[in-house]
Amino acid sequence: MKILVTGGLGFIGSHTVVALQQKGYEVVIIDDLSNASVDVVQGIKAITGVQPTFYQIDLREKQAVFDFFEQHTDLAGVIHFAASKAVGESMAKPLLYYENNFFSLINVLSALQHYGIKKFLFSSSCTVYGQGEVMPITEEESIKSALSPYGNTKQVGEEIIVDLAKVFPLQAVLLRYFNPIGAHESGHIGESPLGVPYNLIPYITQTAVGIREYLSIYGQDYDTPDGTCVRDYIHVVDLADAHVRAMEYLIQEKNQQQVEAFNVGNGQGYSVLELLHSFERVSGLKINYKIVERRPGDVDKAWANTDKIQRVLGWKPTKTLDDMLASAWKWEQKSRNNNN
Ligand code: UD1
Repeated sequence: MKILVTGGLGFIGSHTVVALQQKGYEVVIIDDLSNASVDVVQGIKAITGVQPTFYQIDLREKQAVFDFFEQHTDLAGVIHFAASKAVGESMAKPLLYYENNFFSLINVLSALQHYGIKKFLFSSSCTVYGQGEVMPITEEESIKSALSPYGNTKQVGEEIIVDLAKVFPLQAVLLRYFNPIGAHESGHIGESPLGVPYNLIPYITQTAVGIREYLSIYGQDYDTPDGTCVRDYIHVVDLADAHVRAMEYLIQEKNQQQVEAFNVGNGQGYSVLELLHSFERVSGLKINYKIVERRPGDVDKAWANTDKIQRVLGWKPTKTLDDMLASAWKWEQKSRNNNN
């Protein structure tokens, strides 16, 4: 069966491509290379022995999207990762986020409707909950006002999918990720943001190798045990497995509703300082850091209740925080060596 993965050279996308190929799916990737490198294709091949077909397409261009689908009418399903994804950057560049995330989603969904392709996974986020009131957060948590344009694109993105499902027999799963980190244990693929990283882990690993002088920790006056923000970190390989299970759930027509949402997290919260100290333990290094102002758009805490995905998809996280940090560190060192 052939699956289209948009954003398939990105961090979560590439790990999901590997997991799909390892289950025997044929994968076609679309990526615009705006935050990924074409070398990832070789990283995927090094792990699975199979080179996925890759198209460099900007999904904001409707004609290009339709031209692609015209040539691939046999797709069993689509996993849509392609989007801009940093909370902080979205505060600074709101229009970029609305343009990228909405135009791409709408063009892909228009093509699905036009070509009658029904199985769809949407890369959503726990940002849709805004500041959740009760921890751990369940899927029943009310959707509150988003705290950033990025979060808003995920909230409205989900609504767009729900609205399309009213007029087209779309079968969709919305996966609401908490904080994906880590890298494939092979060291062939990982998180490689272009430019200065916005996310915590690549910032820490780049500080560890000396590319960044120090880590800025955004705020130590939050209502959390040590004052720094608390997040639920999930290994990207576990997250990739959740995508394969969700796609199989749709393909086997086990879904009860046309659109269903699932949290994907570890179910445990760690503060920024706890995470940093775990990284120091795993790597044996000391990381320079400074406490700075809060980052606009950050919630103080978020961790997941994952009962639903465990019950319905039979998924559960298998990796520890140390596994996540050790794999991210291995990846950073290996990718630096390759680039030097
Ligand atoms: C958010 C979403 C997550 C989504 C991700 C996409 C929430 C709760 N999570 O993650 O679902 O996948 O965006 O990017 O909304 N930090 C620092 N210094 C840094 C960078 C980050 O202190 O240089 C802190 C942040 O304040 C935050 C934590 O580290 O508390 C994690 O930040 P980041 O990696 O950017 O992810 P989120 O914004 O939490």
